[in-house]
Amino acid sequence: MSELYFRQWLAGRDVAHDDPLAAGMANYVYVIGDRATGEAVVIDPAYAPEEIVAAVRDDGLDVVGVVATHYHADHVGGSLMGRPIAGVVQLLETCDVPVHVQRTERPWVERGTGLSASSLVEHDDRDRLLVGGIEVTLVHTPGHTPGSQCLVVEDRLVSGDTLFLEGCGRTDLPGSDPEEMYRTLQSRLATFDGAMRVFPGHRYHPAPSAPLSTLRQENPVLQPLEREEWLARYS
Ligand SMILES: [Fe+2]
Repeated sequence: MSELYFRQWLAGRDVAHDDPLAAGMANYVYVIGDRATGEAVVIDPAYAPEEIVAAVRDDGLDVVGVVATHYHADHVGGSLMGRPIAGVVQLLETCDVPVHVQRTERPWVERGTGLSASSLVEHDDRDRLLVGGIEVTLVHTPGHTPGSQCLVVEDRLVSGDTLFLEGCGRTDLPGSDPEEMYRTLQSRLATFDGAMRVFPGHRYHPAPSAPLSTLRQENPVLQPLEREEWLARYS
């Protein structure tokens, strides 16, 4: 019997609490694991990777992998406007585990972090990752970056910078594509049940998560819109 372990930690508060950059960026770090087998993967372990691994171990689980929602330094480490952020490279110095990335994002993660290709495992849309007995589905959601991916575990959608509780990720950054973001938000995510709970990549809203059905009512980027109108408003 598997038993879901799910954690949402706010960088700058729950981890890396003395890091003003982390506090300013308000990134969420997620951990998905199986309490029964003691295995866990960390999603977007930026700012304080050693502390994150230690916190998972304190909860009685071992980190067996990392999943990157996308290549940005505030999610996987690297340089953010000249300021270094610790991330997957430092985590791998603590525990040598695979880093799961969407296939299209692999070269971006390599460039941004300096991680070697041998540490990265490429995934396609809807690949399933088994964490102990817990099944995690990786969903390719391009737009914010070419290989952004969301994670689905049970009734939860970990949405990275693809979808926030208000708005969506920027589409004016290197590798961004407003047209793909339109298709992601209006088509790809439209397949998911409204009862799913969305856990975003940043705390841009006081609530830590919200049902997808609520976002479909309240988040303007999910309102049904023709392509031209959506692009005129949000790109
Ligand atoms: Fe991002």
